[in-house]
Amino acid sequence: MLFLQLVLLVVLLPGGDSEDAFQEPISFQIILTISFYNDSRTQNLGSAWLDELQTHGWDNKTGAFIFLWPWPRGNRSTEGLMKVEKLLYTCTTRLRQVFQDHVRHWHLEYPFQVQLAEGCKLLRTGEASVGFVRIAYQGEDLVSFQNMTWWPSPKGGSRAHHVCKLFNQDHVMNQGLHTLITDSCPQFLLSLLDAGKEDIQRQERPEGWLSTGPSPGPGRLLLVCHVSGFRPKPVWVMWMRGEQEQQGTQRGDVLPHADGTWYLQTSLDMKAREAAGLSCRVRHSSLGGQDMVLHWEQPHSMGLVFLAVIVPLVLLAGLVLWLWKCWKTHWRPQCTGFPLE
Ligand SMILES: *[C@@H]1O[C@H](CO)[C@@H](O)[C@H](O)[C@H]1NC(C)=O
Ligand SMILES: *[C@@H]1O[C@H](CO)[C@@H](O)[C@H](O)[C@H]1NC(C)=O
Ligand SMILES: *[C@@H]1O[C@H](CO)[C@@H](O)[C@H](O)[C@H]1NC(C)=O
Ligand SMILES: *[C@@H]1O[C@H](CO)[C@@H](O)[C@H](O)[C@H]1NC(C)=O
Repeated sequence: MLFLQLVLLVVLLPGGDSEDAFQEPISFQIILTISFYNDSRTQNLGSAWLDELQTHGWDNKTGAFIFLWPWPRGNRSTEGLMKVEKLLYTCTTRLRQVFQDHVRHWHLEYPFQVQLAEGCKLLRTGEASVGFVRIAYQGEDLVSFQNMTWWPSPKGGSRAHHVCKLFNQDHVMNQGLHTLITDSCPQFLLSLLDAGKEDIQRQERPEGWLSTGPSPGPGRLLLVCHVSGFRPKPVWVMWMRGEQEQQGTQRGDVLPHADGTWYLQTSLDMKAREAAGLSCRVRHSSLGGQDMVLHWEQPHSMGLVFLAVIVPLVLLAGLVLWLWKCWKTHWRPQCTGFPLE
């Protein structure tokens, strides 16, 4: 009998925070990767994530989770965690066995990887929770568990059908799995969210700066707006001319920093002479409703500064020199067109 028990949890943050970011669901998931090198050597790696924040590591020898945050652990949370740990450990062992037993039947080829993502979704109101489990083979979705049943993924082919057929016969496992993802998991998640509230809801203001990227062509500029160090992840960044959004704005991926904050680069390909007057506008929940605006400074402005400062200085020096010569030759300043007395 198989005991395949995995948990992926998606939860909305509780509490009446009015920021849009906190209306979004956040997820908690346990991810397990089993690498099969040959019929005697495998490797297991596991971790747990609350949305995109890693909350736990996993000791693959004992099957225990490793807390990565100093959040208080209520014993309710600990109980829930121990259940999940037990299931995950059993699951890993079973899953490894099943895949190794079916290498030929399912046409698996060494080396290969099997990934599991397990969790539950708890709506903002706390009443509607949905749990799910997904298994991938070589990075492609293979099967998923929903409504007490294993379903093949469209891309999984006949292998996915074989896996589902086998897993669906195991009613005990499926009942256990169902209980886990619809009951233990949401409870554990709620306690985790509560314990980690301060860290999870922490806001960090972005810093921004502008630069140019590699020139896209003659007479063109690639303007790049960098936004860094913000939390939470949702952010709006747009190149603007006055109040007008520039449709050519290209948004990159939001990339993680190691400290849990984010980085985003947004670029605009422009004719160099049309770049004047552009700005990069950043909207983020940490900015308290006040957008951050970064104005593009023409590189020519250095030339303007030069003209505005150096030219008058040269003129002034010329005038001083002329006056001095005048004073020297005539002793009294009675130079033509310059009656000082
Ligand atoms: C399995 O792979 C490991 C190294 O990856 C190797 O040391 C071992 O001999 C292999 N075992 C078999 C049965 O091929
Ligand atoms: C356990 O995890 C470590 C990395 O954390 C890895 O190097 C090691 O190979 C893993 N062992 C097994 C048996 O999967
Ligand atoms: C949890 O804590 C309460 C009191 O804080 C205690 O009465 C209860 O026995 C504890 N449960 C477990 C399983 O430790
Ligand atoms: C889940 O299963 C129940 C009964 O087994 C059925 O009534 C319900 O429609 C199913 N839901 C979905 C989304 O398939």
